[in-house]
Amino acid sequence: MDQPARNWAGHSRLTGYDDGGCGVSPRANPHSLVHCGMKPLVIIPPSPARWHSLLALVGHKGPLWLEDIEKRFVQGVPGSQDAFAVIANGGQFLAHACINKKAKIGILGNVHTRSDHRGRGYARLVIKAMLAWFDMVGGKWLYLGTTADLADGLFGKFGFKVIRRSPREPHDGITMLRTVADVGYDPLGRSDAAATTRPISRADWPLIVALLQHRAGPDPRLALDESAVSAELTALELISQHEQGTCHVMGTFCADRALGVGSVAADRIGQRTYAILMPHGTELPELREAITAHARSQGYTQVDFPMETLADGECPASPTPG
Ligand SMILES: CC(C)(COP(=O)(O)OP(=O)(O)OC[C@H]1O[C@@H](n2cnc3c(N)ncnc32)[C@H](O)[C@@H]1OP(=O)(O)O)[C@@H](O)C(=O)NCCC(=O)NCCS
Repeated sequence: MDQPARNWAGHSRLTGYDDGGCGVSPRANPHSLVHCGMKPLVIIPPSPARWHSLLALVGHKGPLWLEDIEKRFVQGVPGSQDAFAVIANGGQFLAHACINKKAKIGILGNVHTRSDHRGRGYARLVIKAMLAWFDMVGGKWLYLGTTADLADGLFGKFGFKVIRRSPREPHDGITMLRTVADVGYDPLGRSDAAATTRPISRADWPLIVALLQHRAGPDPRLALDESAVSAELTALELISQHEQGTCHVMGTFCADRALGVGSVAADRIGQRTYAILMPHGTELPELREAITAHARSQGYTQVDFPMETLADGECPASPTPG
């Protein structure tokens, strides 16, 4: 059954805005009078009855993204806290953004406004509604992936700071982070909690993306900025393959943070399979052992780690922002 949609415009009071619920000061944006009547709805999934309205807006996304959005929106993902903000005109969605959250880490994504409704402040409205929700439910580290033009023109205005940048055409790929005042930039800092190694689930997506913003990916030839900018898709691909059973993915987690992720191919014919670990060269022997043990339990007698034979490329860390 659908969860009730909530009108989040009322939360402007919680976030200290005084904008009549439209998120943009009339003086700051000449279009504001056009959109002040439109209020974002925040939808907490599952919401199968509204799927067709959302699909009409985001149907252009690639298959891994669509699979993820549909699973979260229509069925709900156990263990994940997800919220979607939309500007709706009757049954038609004009703009959308969502946050996928686990523990205190979230990813803001799929910000989209219908092409014939752009320039009216709708993206601002849905982003603002999502940020109010994230802060209210205790989120601390909020990441997003975007392009350099939107990093400056849109997301920077909400307190997001660039953490990674990789060359792309026509605009560089960018990842950004927004934190609350009382936490550090890196959520993977030390903790006394015991680490556990277990199979990952779709709910872990934000934790894997966060890991790859601050630690190297599986391939030693790739700079950290490159693997960080590709992290959302890399993690979606791993999760999708894990769910299909073509690979088995495990993570080492400590107090709801991912410290490392390993994947072993489960569709190889014969005695031999291969695995990857991230960060590459990771000092997580329990993760390597768990991956190897899983492969053995599936009948493989040899597990290769081919990335470990590659030359170690430079993996410079970008400076801490702010
Ligand atoms: C990017 C997009 C969501 C903007 O939606 P929108 O409803 O037109 O945006 P808004 O009217 O709320 O604009 C908010 C701010 O973003 C800025 N902005 C919008 N599009 C921009 C662009 N392409 N480059 C730079 N700044 C941009 C606006 O100037 C505005 O700034 P202001 O508040 O200082 O006036 C929309 O163009 C879109 O859906 N594009 C395709 C999908 C996409 O690129 N999504 C982003 C994925 S990270």
